[in-house]
Amino acid sequence: MSIHYAEEIIEEIRVSNDIVDVISEYVKLDRKGQYMFGLCPFHKEKTPSFSVTPSRQMFHCYGCGKGGNVFHFVMGVENLDFLESVRLLADRARIQLPEGEGEEEKKRIILKQEVLKINVEAARYFHNILNSKTGDKGKDYLINRKISDNSIRKFGIGYSTEDWDGLYKYLSSKGFDDVSLKESGLIIPNKSGSYFDRFRARVIFPIFDLRGNVIGFGGRVLDNSLPKYMNSPETCVYNKGKSLYALNYAKNSGDKRIIIVEGYMDVISLHQSGIINTVASLGTALTEGQGRILKKYAEEIIISYDADTAGQAATMKGLDLLNEIGCNVKVLSIPEGKDPDEFVKKNGPQAFYKLLENSQSLIEYKIRVLKNEIDMESTEGKIKFLNKTADVLTKVDNRLEREMYIKKLANDYEISEEAIFSEVLKRTRPKTSFKKPVIEHTGFKANKLPGKEDSKLIHLEKMLLVFLSVDNSAYKFIKDKLSIEYFNNENRSIAQIVLDRLDNNKGIVPAELLNAIGNDEANEYVRIIQEECNCEDNKKAILDIYRKIQLFKLEKRQKEILDILSGNNNDVEGDVERLKDELKSILIMKKSI
Ligand code: GTP
Ligand code: MN
Repeated sequence: MSIHYAEEIIEEIRVSNDIVDVISEYVKLDRKGQYMFGLCPFHKEKTPSFSVTPSRQMFHCYGCGKGGNVFHFVMGVENLDFLESVRLLADRARIQLPEGEGEEEKKRIILKQEVLKINVEAARYFHNILNSKTGDKGKDYLINRKISDNSIRKFGIGYSTEDWDGLYKYLSSKGFDDVSLKESGLIIPNKSGSYFDRFRARVIFPIFDLRGNVIGFGGRVLDNSLPKYMNSPETCVYNKGKSLYALNYAKNSGDKRIIIVEGYMDVISLHQSGIINTVASLGTALTEGQGRILKKYAEEIIISYDADTAGQAATMKGLDLLNEIGCNVKVLSIPEGKDPDEFVKKNGPQAFYKLLENSQSLIEYKIRVLKNEIDMESTEGKIKFLNKTADVLTKVDNRLEREMYIKKLANDYEISEEAIFSEVLKRTRPKTSFKKPVIEHTGFKANKLPGKEDSKLIHLEKMLLVFLSVDNSAYKFIKDKLSIEYFNNENRSIAQIVLDRLDNNKGIVPAELLNAIGNDEANEYVRIIQEECNCEDNKKAILDIYRKIQLFKLEKRQKEILDILSGNNNDVEGDVERLKDELKSILIMKKSI
């Protein structure tokens, strides 16, 4: 992949994607003065050390040190390379990337748009059938399941007849080609080369993304035949691991909690009962991608899966996953093995809200599951329970919280507080006396590291470039002293950009500087910008850095000359007299700095 986009277009893409908007799609941010803070998506944490500076359009994590502009964020969080992140953000800002980016890429974009169009047409087709005489069977089924006309409209529910290729014929007549139709997943080729419809004789649930595009479909049979549900395959517009059914509605519910259920029917029933902060993960195991999306829209996530064994296992996995990525999670258990749909239909929304209020925290839920699994009557059982419980409690970081649980547990299960305490203590106290490994930072060692000296110089040069990008007007004070050769090899490509811009009065801002910098180096740049760049007087700061660099270079050369003169360095030959002269002038120059 040797595609290069012009600097200008990369910059246009950067400024068209506000970093706060983009990051907010992954991280819940709260404003604190001129910064926004949230939980870092790049390392596990419970208190926010991830900061975004809107004015600078940069992010920086004080915990793990990651930082950069909007491109670095997307690269890191989506695991993309630079060009992929440029494409993604261009797409997001609806900026057309220039020709020459590859025919393949263009084809893919066109195909995506085509599939979205096909999906809308198909959704309309199914919906119209449901509302016509041909759809009576589907309508009867939905009436039987107490789905209102309102819900049918809201969720765009439809019906597909027994016909083998009704949809295929319809979409073909609308001018869609076979390649796009096949990609949509709605049409399947058979061995003889003709096509037939994936969904036949099913109630159809279109799946929407956050922007309201139809990205896929689910279809349910009307009887007990198998498979009960059929879903669209993954396509160029449908990524199961990143979709949540009904999130397009739930995100606007105004509730800080989102309830996650398993199925279409659960969501539709709950929404119909006014409980609109509900989404479904659609039968697949909850993925990290889904978790991150939920985290963005909710302060608390409540899992309400079926009470069957599969549902319980999925609950446990979902809990751990959501907890791992830093969500507040709870479990809402439906009594008597019912699913949310059945429960709310039988008992009404108020009863469901009651269950919601009684939903259990991760720890409470885990302990309850343990209790159900273990025979609490026997002594062995009780000991096993105590041990397993202590394992769970050990994972609670916060001491106060842990003590609260212990008290509650002792009360609920008639075990003495002391017994639980001592088990937990056994697990939290380190086995041997704890001694932190000491990392040596002696001058001696540091000097032996090759390039350590140079790395200080390289850092100073970076600071210089950063300051110039923070305050372009300070360039005039050292313009005459700088050229591309002034910089170390490592910094030259960035220096080239900065000097070019400033020489041509085009200007550059720090976030733009980062466009040309890879992920690892960006961390260092952002740290400099955030932590070392808070000077009142930029001119003074720049001249100061310049002076340090000069001094550094002179001292380095001085050391080299002394090495040669004292015979320590035989690799370099030099005219002794000339070297002595140079040394003299170095000493004079050092004084004048
Ligand atoms: P009903 O109430 O019986 O209509 O279904 P439900 O919405 O309660 O769904 P259930 O709890 O049986 O399953 C939860 C979700 O898993 C469904 O909404 C589907 O997305 C998915 N699912 C269930 N059964 C199947 C199946 O046979 N195949 C596939 N691919 N997915 C299924
Ligand atoms: Mn159900």
